[in-house]
Amino acid sequence: MKIQENISLKPFNTFGIDKKAQFFTKSSSVEELKEALSWAKSKNHSILILGGGSNILLTKDFQGLVIKVELKGIQVLLEDENHLVVEVGAGEIWHDWVMYALEKNWAGLENLSLIPGTVGASPMQNIGAYGVEIKEVFHSLTALNKETLEMETFDSAACKFGYRESVFKHELKDQYIITSVRFRLSKTPHFHVEYGAIQDVLREKGIEELSIRDVSEAVIQIRQSKLPDPKEIGNAGSFFKNPTIPAGQFEKLKLDFPNLPGYPGEGGVKVPAGWLIEQAGWKGKRLGDVGVHAKQALVLVNYGKGTGEEIKSLSEQVQASVRTKFGIELNPEVNFI
Ligand code: FAD
Ligand code: EPU
Repeated sequence: MKIQENISLKPFNTFGIDKKAQFFTKSSSVEELKEALSWAKSKNHSILILGGGSNILLTKDFQGLVIKVELKGIQVLLEDENHLVVEVGAGEIWHDWVMYALEKNWAGLENLSLIPGTVGASPMQNIGAYGVEIKEVFHSLTALNKETLEMETFDSAACKFGYRESVFKHELKDQYIITSVRFRLSKTPHFHVEYGAIQDVLREKGIEELSIRDVSEAVIQIRQSKLPDPKEIGNAGSFFKNPTIPAGQFEKLKLDFPNLPGYPGEGGVKVPAGWLIEQAGWKGKRLGDVGVHAKQALVLVNYGKGTGEEIKSLSEQVQASVRTKFGIELNPEVNFI
């Protein structure tokens, strides 16, 4: 185990925020993870688990040990005529795994193409895009209990998946390190192409016999057209979750804002936060070196030298505007450190 001291985390978060880790290590096996945990415990250091750093906002230097999870490996555990169960190491890059499955013609992940980050972080917020969430292809996961150093298995029910939610963000927050995830994929595709934008791309391309590769390529095209590439402009994707409001509140708001979009949500109407932020006048606004993306108002960006504190302050100003104009509370999707 190699522990580095006083390391800049700038290369390890997609916002490109230049905060430091007091101690930093990379773990590529369960043994290394246990060693790192034991070392931190013996010194009474706190711990931050890091995957690809694509869903965090660093607002301060981290006092303690940052562990970057790099466990690799892809293994078929079960296979029958129609399905497979595949185990994937937590440190595998999510999009590489999606492309691997696509090559093998295993269906189920195609709508989730091009999401940044690691496989190990994917259950944390039940990643989702274009009508599919990982809970639909999830079989189970293995996680290391940080306190007992025992390995534990969680099935889908135990993960308590919801929209951008899991048990690991709530009751079990900071208690486990996910080491591998098992997916149940299909040999025959079940297409999810209800999203208008996907249909538009497929129509444009004149595709007649749909394949999972077509769906993946359509999703990639749509994502590239509106989401900034973190290699060019620092960001963490959607900064806030799309809020769900009571049906009565939605109907009342419709009287003042007839164009307000809304979709059936868990116990109410889900409203696109991007629309609310754009209507509140924030789309494309820049404050110093941070701002609201010009093509997607739900994405806050760092143009280069922005700080975590500046992004945080911008996010609070956006929340205040939306609260004042619509009476709706926006909750961050991004994890503040
Ligand atoms: P990190 O940012 O490294 O970590 C996120 C959280 O998980 C932290 O709290 C961390 O401590 C914890 N964590 C990480 N790995 C582990 C582990 N192995 N065990 C325990 N805890 C862990 N998300 C979507 O759902 N849908 C999208 O369409 C989407 N689009 C995006 C587009 C862009 C351009 C960007 C930058 C982000 C987007 N995201 C999207 C958000 C992000 O990609 C996902 O949340 C992703 O799963 C984060 O993975 P990560 O490895 O980077 O996690
Ligand atoms: N909209 C605007 N202005 C904007 C942006 C959006 O009016 O600037 C409105 C439009 O009405 C549009 C609607 O919002 O039709 C939805 O926009 P979009 O399809 O871009 O999706 P989103 O709701 O903004 C969500 C996820 C994304 C995911 C896409 C595709 C959340 C918080 N975000 O974004 O996930 O990729 O749908 O499924 O649910 C992420 O979590 O980081 C992320 C990027």
